[in-house]
Amino acid sequence: MTFAKISQTAYYVPEQVVTNDDLAKIMDTSDEWIASRTGIKERRISRNQETSDLATEVAKQLLEKSGLSPSEIDFIIVATISPDSMMPTTAARVQANINASEAFVYDLTAACSGFVFALATAEKLIKAGSYKRGLVIGAEVLSKTLDWSDRRTAVLFGDGAGGVLLEASAQEHFLAESLHSDGSRGQKLTSGAYGLQSPYSDQGENNPFMGMDGRAIFDFAIRDVSRSIKELLEISGLSGDGIDYALLHQANIRILDKMAKKIGLERDKFLANMMHYGNTSAASIPILLAESVENGIIRLDGSQTLLLTGFGGGLTWGSLIVKI
Ligand code: ACO
Repeated sequence: MTFAKISQTAYYVPEQVVTNDDLAKIMDTSDEWIASRTGIKERRISRNQETSDLATEVAKQLLEKSGLSPSEIDFIIVATISPDSMMPTTAARVQANINASEAFVYDLTAACSGFVFALATAEKLIKAGSYKRGLVIGAEVLSKTLDWSDRRTAVLFGDGAGGVLLEASAQEHFLAESLHSDGSRGQKLTSGAYGLQSPYSDQGENNPFMGMDGRAIFDFAIRDVSRSIKELLEISGLSGDGIDYALLHQANIRILDKMAKKIGLERDKFLANMMHYGNTSAASIPILLAESVENGIIRLDGSQTLLLTGFGGGLTWGSLIVKI
């Protein structure tokens, strides 16, 4: 029997740091408002790198750390809601940039759940025995999807990328999963709507920018996502003690605080870095994971058990419990 294992992690963020005070110079907001409601103090904003450039930096690091040659990679999945283009996909650009000639590649779109959905999918590809190694990357340049005149959304998001090398293993590392979607609430969080525009059609909805019902998303996270995590912990027979760290999508520190209480896991187990990067959607969990490995909090030696949870547009939400 073949299983899948996260064997390397990496992240890359653009150099440009934009603080809350920087934003207060270009819009009617303040560090006090942003930090007290979201926990965010600063974010990275790309000046001249596209989503595939950030993802390529992650892919190169993963290859370097593993010592693998690009031709040994069987697949690349990039989770993103801010692709360079629909065609070629961001994953295809990464493949070309690193010359992973033997890989099949595609983008996966599930907003802030994208990385968790992509990792769950990639695990099945390896577990089925068909493929041995894949790169799973979450990458976003959300700054290009924001309406910079809308302070309600512009202050929340940032750019960055993170990813993992997933490899075949004789031991089981993916212990439990629960993936969910509710399209009926899709309009609560929107972006990238390109309306009908042929000579034969009425003009459709055309709004490329991020739109959000903040209160509804807040409630969704606290209620639905917390409940699904509690259920997963019960079903998997893992109590809070069985989880070393919880890496939840980095949207908002108040969401994290409330979810910790609802789930009944110690707050110290919930890692957070949204203060430095803002909400980077599909990139937030792999950036947090790779940064925690870099800081020595998480070790890739099979001794720790992690809860990874994404939630966001779609609506989508999902969790994986992974021995790492
Ligand atoms: N700076 C200053 N004032 C602002 C700003 C800003 N950046 N944005 C909004 N305001 C004002 C509003 O205009 C409003 O003023 P008014 O009362 O005079 O009309 C006031 O602040 C309150 O606005 P609300 O939108 O009601 O603010 P709320 O307290 O709900 O906080 C927030 C907004 C932080 C977005 C909150 O709803 C939230 O945390 N939602 C969770 C959603 C989230 O984190 N989404 C991220 C993307 S989704 C995801 O990743 C899953």
